[in-house]
Amino acid sequence: MYQPTSIASAHPSVIENPKITVVGTGYLGATHAVCMALLGYDVIALDVDQAKIDHLAAGNLPIFEPGLEDKLREVLAAGKLRFTTDVKLAAGHGDVHFICVGTPQAKGSDAADLTYVDAAVTALARELHRKCLIVGKSTVPIGTAARLTALVHATAPAGSLVELAWNPEFLREGFAVMDTLEPDRLVFGTASAWARAQLAACYTSIIAAGTPVVSTDLATAELVKVAANSFLATKISYINAMAEVCEATGADVSHLADALSYDNRIGGRFLKPGLGFGGGCLPKDIRAFAHRAQTLGVGQAVAFLRQVDGINRRRRQRTVDLVTELAGGDLLGVKVACLGAAFKPNSDDIRDAPALDVARMLHEAGALVTVYDPEAMTNARRSYPDLSYAGSLEEAVTGAGVVAVLTEWDLFRAADPYHLATLVDSRCIVDGRHALDAERYRAAGWDYRALGRPSHTGTVTFLDFENNGLQAQNAG
Ligand code: UDX
Repeated sequence: MYQPTSIASAHPSVIENPKITVVGTGYLGATHAVCMALLGYDVIALDVDQAKIDHLAAGNLPIFEPGLEDKLREVLAAGKLRFTTDVKLAAGHGDVHFICVGTPQAKGSDAADLTYVDAAVTALARELHRKCLIVGKSTVPIGTAARLTALVHATAPAGSLVELAWNPEFLREGFAVMDTLEPDRLVFGTASAWARAQLAACYTSIIAAGTPVVSTDLATAELVKVAANSFLATKISYINAMAEVCEATGADVSHLADALSYDNRIGGRFLKPGLGFGGGCLPKDIRAFAHRAQTLGVGQAVAFLRQVDGINRRRRQRTVDLVTELAGGDLLGVKVACLGAAFKPNSDDIRDAPALDVARMLHEAGALVTVYDPEAMTNARRSYPDLSYAGSLEEAVTGAGVVAVLTEWDLFRAADPYHLATLVDSRCIVDGRHALDAERYRAAGWDYRALGRPSHTGTVTFLDFENNGLQAQNAG
């Protein structure tokens, strides 16, 4: 377990080893609470969901996140982390209160739904009788922190002794513990030197390890998170837009991405073409950002995010089109094995999962869809009860007319195309994630197809600049 080292506090009333409260025990909150406890702080995690709290208190994680459950048990055994639904207890405990509740997309709108943030802050503020710091970690529209500051000052018995800061979280599912304990950077949005120093005292050892800290105002801190996620989404949609161009020309987007990635100014990360982005953050964050910018009168500045969203959605339809093509133009009664349900590997999260969206569309087009995912089956079954589910990769592909790889789990990458060939009805595969070795599949007799890649090896497309047109030649 990490131990916090002493910091030379920049402000006399800063508590150097603050007691910490984490409000909300979803993905972000559970991870943050466990990691703060691992860093040596005395942590209480609060949630309104008694069943979830009981589950966590017993050392069971309701989500799949590699490494987190072991760490949860470690800090529970060490007495560093407790769970409660008692707001008074949590409010009395914390010198610093982290707000980690969800901000999903509002129903019928692109805006973020701030109901949970508002409820959590209000309930907490009502019980705050002394100087302390509330730190927002949830992803929120710009201006939320300023609004909440006024709300807290009006609601808390301690009034303006309670300060508010914003400290966005950048953790990725599947790497949540590592991203929290060894972040790329810390962003502190604060309104006073005290708040900045008190927040720094929550990350003593991380700062001592040399992690860059960007200290800024509240609005900038809020903006950092949506700007970062918008950039990542734009990068993915950029390469997927190039895939669309490749599809029209016979060029190969995999080679294109590879060639671009060697330019250090561009870099290869988040330049992986395929079925596009999903999950609980990127899709709803770009929509909420565009919506908020509109209300601020700067909608034009981020209008491109609508295109980013549009490109991303088109990838799903295009994947369905590819499957249909391989099925001979009609999906009715065709058995399709959908490999993957989670929005990305090493996660059981199916929020806005491209894989399940594709499975749903195939099902609606009349295909007999069988889904298999190593971790997301329970969640998928609950949300998509009309689809059929298999107990293994082998079971899913047995008798399939088309196989579609929709989430790039290692299990699917490692599958042997010769073995799979003995199970399927027809050797047709759509690699929705550019995860497989195309040549191996083709050598094993498969019709291998991927978005943005030519259907046959050896086909080279070149631009005929003189005639300003396109020609395709067979390299063989
Ligand atoms: C994201 C941000 O990365 C993280 O910093 C933020 O805190 C929360 O949102 P996460 O939702 O866990 O994290 O997923 P991420 O790893 O970013 O992947 C998002 C989606 O993009 C996935 O569906 C993934 O499959 C897709 N993706 C990613 C691509 O399609 N191509 C890529 O090159 C990279």
